[in-house]
Amino acid sequence: MIAIGSDHGGFALKQAVMRHLKDRGLEYKDFGTYTEESCDYPEYGRAVAQAVASGECERGIVICGTGIGISIAANKVPGIRAALCTDCFCAEATRQHNDANVLALGGRVVGEGLALKIVDTFLDTPFSNDERHIRRIAKIEG
Ligand code: RB5
Repeated sequence: MIAIGSDHGGFALKQAVMRHLKDRGLEYKDFGTYTEESCDYPEYGRAVAQAVASGECERGIVICGTGIGISIAANKVPGIRAALCTDCFCAEATRQHNDANVLALGGRVVGEGLALKIVDTFLDTPFSNDERHIRRIAKIEG
């Protein structure tokens, strides 16, 4: 199960990502926002992050206008490694090296076509399981 959430700035892209997940046969849970009315991104970043941290969902996708605010909010939840990606190289590397469990996107930054490729790369790339990356991730958690 994939947790997904956005503020108003990421609402349109979130609709496209959800359609894409459905087309791929992947289950998701939408944590809001549910309209284009202006709202506060930390609420949705936290809701998605908590769903992932609790184990309710395996991965999360958070979207705001830039992807910045909502990724900062998601990363405040212990156990969350949210990565803001604007290209497929970063999406691949953050899975292989950081075992990122939440993808952040900027709805006003990346176009739909690129965003969906980033989503696929993020979802389809496994963690490397390399000892050095396991060690570094453990140091993030303190
Ligand atoms: C909303 O206008 C905008 O500030 C928000 O979507 C996001 O970009 C914040 O980081």
